[in-house]
Parts: sequence; structure tokens; C-alpha cells
Amino acid sequence: MQTIYFDNAASSWPKPPQVIEGMKEAVELYGANPGRGSHAMAVKASRILFECRKNLSKLLQVNNPNDISFALNTTAALNQGIKGFVKEGDHVICTNVEHNSVRRPIEYARKARSVSVTYVKTDTRGILNIDDLKAAITSKTKLIVCNHSSNLLGSILPIPEIAELCRKHGVKLLVDAAQTAGTLPIRIADMGIHMLAFPGHKGLLGPQGTGGLYVEPELELEPLMHGGTGSQSEEIDQPTVRPDRYEAGTQNTPGIAGLNEGVKFVLKETVESIHQKEWGLTQRLMAGLMEIEGVTILGPELGQNRTGIVSFTVQNADSSEVAFILDQSYQIAVRSGYHCTPLAHECAGTLANGAVRSSVGFFTTDSEVDMLIGAVKEIAKHFVNKV
Ligand SMILES: Cc1ncc(COP(=O)(O)O)c(C=O)c1O
Repeated sequence: MQTIYFDNAASSWPKPPQVIEGMKEAVELYGANPGRGSHAMAVKASRILFECRKNLSKLLQVNNPNDISFALNTTAALNQGIKGFVKEGDHVICTNVEHNSVRRPIEYARKARSVSVTYVKTDTRGILNIDDLKAAITSKTKLIVCNHSSNLLGSILPIPEIAELCRKHGVKLLVDAAQTAGTLPIRIADMGIHMLAFPGHKGLLGPQGTGGLYVEPELELEPLMHGGTGSQSEEIDQPTVRPDRYEAGTQNTPGIAGLNEGVKFVLKETVESIHQKEWGLTQRLMAGLMEIEGVTILGPELGQNRTGIVSFTVQNADSSEVAFILDQSYQIAVRSGYHCTPLAHECAGTLANGAVRSSVGFFTTDSEVDMLIGAVKEIAKHFVNKV
């Protein structure tokens, strides 16, 4: 029996066949080094990188594709955005539903550069009151870093309002779009976002080892990586020209060729319809889980907007036990534990046992949702009756 996959928030699976084909072609037909040689194969490799940047720009409403640099994953992009920006004495604001990929680089900056940090609290369902964020801004605030959607709660932060607040106070905004790129509309120019970190391997349906960072043209970051770029080779310093400034070393051409196909797939389906489809699946899943004795769902209530994540707890059960049984007895893949976001668990009150996180994707079906509901029903009965 094939795995019933509910771990799309970690990495989406399966991938559209075009993604696999695109990667295969890159390896078989033009496995040369992009941006270095001027022979036909190297040019073809460079071209695919540019095509992917162009398609990403179309999807994310970016005017100049060169303002997007590729990265290994969201984490690498967030590190570049945060550590490349903050300076000694700066004040940074984020929320209490951030992933460790935001929290750890910020905490590093706190220790290494005497940066001060404020974590603004959301409510227990991950909903942010914009006035609380406003109240945290001081004359030293230089940066707000926040996710677009919590990877535990599925709640959505009001990015346009946050961006407007940033504009008024001269603060830069870095958005962690790990859970929304490809599944929730992102219009960088309209929304007023200054930096955006995104994965290629989740909602954009590309392979692991891909992601990127958008940086507005007015902002120059200190590069984290120094090295060869195939440009301005006579210069001792890292080039200022983009995307080379943030792309030292050989890029992941096969991965980016796959990502390009993933982005084209998303463009064709449209982000809006993908979101609608995923939202419908989450509502079906929530409605089913809510009927089960002993099951508590985290995040926004039924009927409210959310991304494709439905996390829940089962009374008297450790989340890892539930995930283990789902895997071993039902071939259903979910994630358990803390999902790299202890802050969000603290906020939801699930720090003791963690939570089971199920996350739908483009290829999830209604019948798979029903199988998950049925399996949780059987498991919950066992635990609820245990005590
Ligand atoms: C909100 C959020 N931020 C950052 C990350 C890190 O993403 P990546 O695995 O692409 O580095 C994740 C991963 O799940 C996430 O959910």
C-alpha cells in the first residue's frame, strides 16, 4: 500500500512528473556549470536558472528577477536576511509563533551583536493583534521578522497590515514564507514586503535543496557566503551585482530546473485555486476530527482562514505515539513533536506532549482525508478509554 502522505508542511510529496523530468533533463543534457563557461551547455544551465527566477518573479510579483537569489532552503535564506541585515544595538521584533529558523539566527544576533529582541504574543490560536505589534516598536527597531503562516497552527499573519506599520515607522520587514509560497497569494510589490524567504520544496512543489530570498533593490545585505561567482573575478570583494552577491559557488542547477517546473505548475493551477482546494480539505479534516472524543484541534476555528495545516492532540496520548501508530498500522505519514517551534507550542498550551501535525497538499484527496479521520477515531478510542 502506498503511503498516505500528510506531511506536506515539511516537504511536499509527491511532485508533479514535470519536476522529475526537468531534473533528469538538467543532469542528462546540460549538466555544466551555470554562470561560468560560455559554451552552449553552460549557457543552457544559466538560462534555466534565469527562467526559474523569472517564473518566481511572476508568481511573487517581483519586478526584477535578479532581486531573487537562490538558497539551499528557507533556513539559509532567513539566515542571509537576518544576519546580513542586523547591526550592533538594533532592535528586532518577531512573534511567538516563529520557527527556530527565525528564532535561532535572531538569538544568535542577540548574543553576538547585542541586538535586542521582542517576541510579540499572538492569541492561543495564532491570531495577531496588530496593535500589540505596533506597541512593541521603538526608535531602535530596525527589523520585523515574522512568518506568513505558523507551521504548527496554520494561522495566517496579516502581512499587508504589518508591512504598512513598517512603512510608517521606517522598519524593514522580512517575511518567512515557508508555509505559504505557492499556496497563499504573495504579492511582494503590493504588500510592501522588503525581504521574503521561501522554500522550493514545499508549496512550490520543487525538490529539497531549493529555496530563495527576495531582497528589495534599495537594500544591500552583508553576504554570508564569500567566493566565486563567475562575475567581477578580478575584484577581491564579493560583487555588488545581483543575484551574484548572495550566490557564491556553484548553484543547484538540477534542483532549480525541477523547481522551475514546480513554479510553472503552480502558475498554471493558480495559487488562489490551490489555496481554495487545500482550505476545503482542511475544513473536511477539521469537521471529521472535531467529532472524535478526546481530540483537540489547534489553530483557527472551523470556517476561518488557515493554510493546509491541521495540528491536533489526542487525550492521554503522546503525539509521537499517535504518529507512530498512524505510520505503522495505517501507512499514514504525519509529524509529531514540536515541529521546530516550541514558542508556538507554548502559545497553544501543548508544550508537554507536543501535537500531531497533519498537512494537506495539492495531491491530497477527500478519501485520504477520510482515511486519516477514520484512523484517528480508532486510535483516540484506545487512548481515551485507557484511564
Ligand atoms: C515557518 C517555517 N519557517 C522555516 C522553516 C524552515 O524551512 P526549510 O526546511 O526550508 O529550511 C520551516 C520548515 O518547515 C517553517 O515551517
